[in-house]
Amino acid sequence: MAKTSEKDFSIYFQPPSLKDAKKRGKEDVKVHYNFEIPEEMEGFGIGKKYMIRTFGCQMNEHDTETIKGILEQLGYTDTEDRTQADLILLNTCAIRENAEDKVFGELGHLKSLKRENPNLVLGVCGCMSQEESVVNRILQKHAHVDLIFGTHNIHRLPHLLKQISFEKEMVVEVWSKEGDIVENMPKKREGMKAWVNIMYGCDKFCTYCIVPYTRGKERSRLPQDVIQEVRELARQGYKEIMLLGQNVNAYGKDFEDMDYDFGDLMNDIHKIDIPRVRFTTSHPRDFDDHLIEVLAQKGNLVEHIHLPVQSGNSEILKKMSRKYTRERYLELVKKIKAAIPDVVLTTDIIVGFPGETDEQFEDTMSLVREVEYDSAFTFIYSPREGTPAAVMEDNVPLEVKKQRLYRLNELLAEIGLKKNQQLVGQVVELLVEGESKNNPDMLTGRTRTNKLVHFSGPKSLTGQFVHVRIDQAKTYLLTGTLVDVEKQASAM
Ligand code: SAH
Ligand code: SF4
Ligand code: F3S
Repeated sequence: MAKTSEKDFSIYFQPPSLKDAKKRGKEDVKVHYNFEIPEEMEGFGIGKKYMIRTFGCQMNEHDTETIKGILEQLGYTDTEDRTQADLILLNTCAIRENAEDKVFGELGHLKSLKRENPNLVLGVCGCMSQEESVVNRILQKHAHVDLIFGTHNIHRLPHLLKQISFEKEMVVEVWSKEGDIVENMPKKREGMKAWVNIMYGCDKFCTYCIVPYTRGKERSRLPQDVIQEVRELARQGYKEIMLLGQNVNAYGKDFEDMDYDFGDLMNDIHKIDIPRVRFTTSHPRDFDDHLIEVLAQKGNLVEHIHLPVQSGNSEILKKMSRKYTRERYLELVKKIKAAIPDVVLTTDIIVGFPGETDEQFEDTMSLVREVEYDSAFTFIYSPREGTPAAVMEDNVPLEVKKQRLYRLNELLAEIGLKKNQQLVGQVVELLVEGESKNNPDMLTGRTRTNKLVHFSGPKSLTGQFVHVRIDQAKTYLLTGTLVDVEKQASAM
C-alpha cells in the first residue's frame, strides 16, 4: 500500500509499469460487445457537469469522444466553464516533454479550483497515465487529483467514478498490459467528420517513441465491425471519415485465421457511400503495392497520404529502428506518385536525434526537396524515459537542433507555398466547415487533400460540398471564389 502526505490508497491503487507494458504475449485478443452502464450507476451523473481537456493526437481526441459518450450515458452534461464542472478530466499525451509540461501546468492551475470546490472530481487519463514516472509525480506533488486511469481501461470509467464516490480516496487504475477490444462503447461525435479506430496499439518500437508502451500491442478491430461502423456513419450523414491507427498499414497482421489487410479494408470502404475517407498514420515500411493500387481508384479515397519519414538519413533511420532506408522510402514515394499523380504527401520529421551530424541533417533537407511535401509536422527530438534512444549518447547542442528545425521549417514553407501557387486558377471541391475564425465574413472549407480554403458565401453552405476556383495562395492558406453557385444550390 502506498502513502502520500495527504491521502491513503486502498485496493484501488494499481500503478503502471513500463517494463510490463513492453511484454508482448501471444495470447489472443478477444472482442467484447457487451459494454453497458452498471445498473447501480444509471443516472449517476444527472445534474452534474463534466469538462474534458484533450492533449495529443486524433487517437486521444477520439478516446475523448468515447469518454464523453460514457459520461453522457451516465447523465452528465458538457460544460466549457471549469468553475461549473463537477468532473474535470485531462486526457493526456506523452509523446514529447513539452506535451507533459502542459499537463503538469494545468494540474497546478486546477489546485486552487479544487480547494474552492472540494467536491470537484479531478482525473488524469490518456497516455501519461501509462507512465510510472508520471503517476509517481502526481502521487507526490499533485495529491489533489482524485482519479488516474489509462488508455486500456476507459470502459471501466463508470466503476471508477463509483469507487471515488464511496472511497473519497485517490483511485489509480492503470493496466500496464492492453486488454481486449471493447466494441460498443458510446461515442459523442461532433461535426460532420468522424474518426473511426481501425486498430489499437503499436508494435514498431521506434527507439525514440513512447507510444508502444502507452498504447500496448497492435490489435486490429474485425473488418465487419469497422465496416458496420462506417456504414452507420454514412447513414447518419457524415461527410468524411478518418480511419485511425498508430500504424494503419499493419492492420490485419494480427488476424490469425484471416488473410485480410489494410488494402482489403480500404477496398471495402471504397464501396461505401461516404464522400471522403482519410487515414492516419501510415508507416512507410508496410505500405504495399496492393494498397497503392486500391488508393489509386480514388472515388471516396482521397489523394492525400501522410507518410512520416522522420529522417532522410539511412544511418539515423537505422538508429531510430524505422526499418526502411532513405532509398526505400524514396522508391515508395516514386511508386505512389506514379500511381496517383495528383497525390499530396505530408510527413513528420524529427531533428536532432541523438548524435545526428550536420551531414545527416542535410540528408533530411535534400529528401524534403526531393519529395516536395505539401506540409509537415516537425519536432526537436525529446528523450522519453524508458525508450532505447533516451540512453543514446547525444552530443548535439540544443541551439544546433533549434537552428536545424528553423532551416527545415523555412524550406517546408517555401515548398508549401510553391505547391499552393500551382493550385491558383484550378477549381477544387471543398467540404465547407463554417465561418472562418479570423474573418466571419468568409467561409472555410477543406479540399480533398486537406488544404484550407477561404471563400465568401452563405453560411447555409456549412456541411456541404462546393466548388471553388482558387484565386490566391499563401503558405498555409488559399482563397477562392465559388463557381457555379446556382448549379450547386440546386444540387443540394
Ligand atoms: N504512429 C505515428 C506517429 C505517432 S507520434 C507514426 O509512426 O508515424 C507523431 C510524431 O511525433 C511521430 O511521427 C514523430 O515524428 C514524433 N515523435 C514521436 N516521438 C518523439 C520524440 N520522442 N521526440 C520528438 N518527436 C517525436
Ligand atoms: Fe511510435 Fe514508431 Fe509506433 Fe509511430 S510506428 S507510434 S513512431 S513506435
Ligand atoms: Fe500522444 Fe498518446 Fe497520441 S502519446 S500522440 S496521445 S498515442
